[in-house]
Parts: sequence; C-alpha cells; structure tokens
Amino acid sequence: MKEKLQQIREKAIAEIERSEGLERLNEVYGLILGKKGELTAVLKGMKDVAPQDRPKVGQWVNETRQAIEELMDEKKAKFEAEALQRKYESEKLDVTMPAKMRAKGNLHPVTQVRNQLSEIFTSMGFEVFEGTEIENDYYNFTALNTPQDHPARDMQDTFYLSPEFLLRTQTSAGQIHVMEAKKPPIKIISPGKVFRSDDDATHSPMFTQMEGLVVDKGITLCDLKGMLDEFVKRIFGEDTTTRLRPSYFPFTEPSVEVDVSCFQCGGKGCKLCKGTGWIEVLGAGVVNNKVLEGCNIDTNEYSGFAFGIGVERIAMLKYGINNIKLLFESDMRVLSQIDD
Ligand code: PHE
Repeated sequence: MKEKLQQIREKAIAEIERSEGLERLNEVYGLILGKKGELTAVLKGMKDVAPQDRPKVGQWVNETRQAIEELMDEKKAKFEAEALQRKYESEKLDVTMPAKMRAKGNLHPVTQVRNQLSEIFTSMGFEVFEGTEIENDYYNFTALNTPQDHPARDMQDTFYLSPEFLLRTQTSAGQIHVMEAKKPPIKIISPGKVFRSDDDATHSPMFTQMEGLVVDKGITLCDLKGMLDEFVKRIFGEDTTTRLRPSYFPFTEPSVEVDVSCFQCGGKGCKLCKGTGWIEVLGAGVVNNKVLEGCNIDTNEYSGFAFGIGVERIAMLKYGINNIKLLFESDMRVLSQIDD
C-alpha cells in the first residue's frame, strides 16, 4: 500500500512539475484527486483495509494528498502570477508615445472675427441686438434720413422684395428699432448679414456688418475716436491707432471714414496699405439729429455716435485674404488655415 501511494505521489509530482499552464494543472488534479482519480480510488478502497491498519494507512493517504495539493497550489499561484504579469505587460501605457491625432474643426473665419468683435465691444459694456435680414423701406432708408428721392440711395444697390420690403443693405436699420424700443442711455452693437447687388474681389452680394450705436447725454465725436482707438488696439495690436477722414452718410453728421495705422508696416508704407501707411476699416459719425428726432429722442438732451464695421473686410485684413470669394467658397484648404 505504502508503495502504491509513493508511486501515485511521484507520478503526481512529476506531472505537476511538467505541466505548463493552469489547464493542464486542472487535468492532473482530475487524474489524481478527481472523482475517478487514482488517489480517490485508494480512499474508496479503505474499506478493504484491515481495521487495525486503517489509522496508519489513512495517515499515509492524507500525507500524500496534502503533499500533492500543496505543490499544486504553489504551481497554481505561480501560473496566476505569471498570467497577471503578462496582462500588465500587454496593457502597459507608454505615456511618451505620440497621441492619436483627432480631426478638429474650427469656426468659419467670419464667425471668428464676428466673435472677436462681439467680445471686445461687450467687454466695453455694449449689449447685442440682432435685427432681421428682411426690412422695410422705412427702417433701412427713410428713418435713416434717406427718403425715396435721396441721392444717397445710390450708394447701396438694393435687392427689393416688393416696393415696401427689401433685404437690408445695412445693419444701421437696427439703430431705429433699438431707439424706438428703448430710452437712452443706449449702447448696443448689432451684428448680422446684409445684402447689396455688388460683386467683385472685395465685395460680395451678401456680407456681414457690425453696427454700433451709443446715445447718451454729452456724447461727441471725441468719444467715438477714443473708443475706436481702444478697439483697433484690441483687434489689430497695441501699436495701432486711428485717423478720421471726412465722409458722408445721411444718418450721421458729421460723418467719418476711419483708417487704422498699417499693422503690417507700422505706417512706413507697404503693399497692404498701398504705400499710404493707413488702411480704411469702417464708417462712422455723430448720429444725425434728424434720426434722433424721428425716434422721439430729445436732441437738446441727448446725442450719439454710430459706426458700421465690415466683418469680412476685417477678416481679410487680419488673415491676408485678397479675395472675398475665398471666404464664401467653403474650400476647407483655405478655411482650416484660420484658427485664431
Ligand atoms: N451703414 C453704413 C454702411 O453700410 C456704415 C455706417 C454705420 C456709417 C453707422 C455710419 C454710421 O456703409
């Protein structure tokens, strides 16, 4: 009996040592200690052992089983540790590896500039008013001191939808809506699309403007100039400044054309500023008393200034775009380059 147990033990040890993985180990367990295992068979045969020998034989059997189980546990622990190690190795993260590139979109350049302008003006305390693209003749022209037969109507080639309705040619139409709805002090910007029958390298039938209107006690052209100086520094750089030239708009008096000192050559003269050192950026002026009166604002008490910025024009200047069509052709090779 002892010999038999010794044999089982040696065979088991050899098998366990030879096994190369958990699977084989389980098989070996079945062969020795399973239902039909060799050692199990010995245990089952205990009833045939003479009663006086049973304690001794029982002890041998137990010793054998313990020895086998111990070795098996050891081996099992080793396999499990190795498996875990392999798992760690395979999941190891190399933080120095280059990251996977994700395709990232960007806002349209016109939207970017529109947002930049909005941010500058709202930080100065301007509120945003959005008008409508379809206007009637009164808001787009008449209330802006441009009656039917006024020659200034020729300044803007208008798309009429009917004798009364039109696609607004200027965000200035919004000025009237705001002054009708609100008492001074007024300090608004009004961004949006405008439409004119106009088409060349720097003009598009649809483009974007940002209107500004301030009405309060004691507002003068100096307030406009001070605000514009701050504005150009923020959008074109600290070293830029403005210059006002006389101009004409029916709804402002006096009217000015605003130039910014060339941010590319610093005023020396280059291709961008056509050698003049100055670049025209917007139209502005002191609100014409006729416009204020038409909105029932007392001109003895209040005055104001207004300005209108061409958003595409600013984008073209800032990003060196020489044809406005590039902004509207949706060519990703162009648009994806501008991410400010
Ligand atoms: N509405 C004018 C234009 O479209 C610009 C402007 C706005 C001028 C406000 C003066 C004041 O050309």
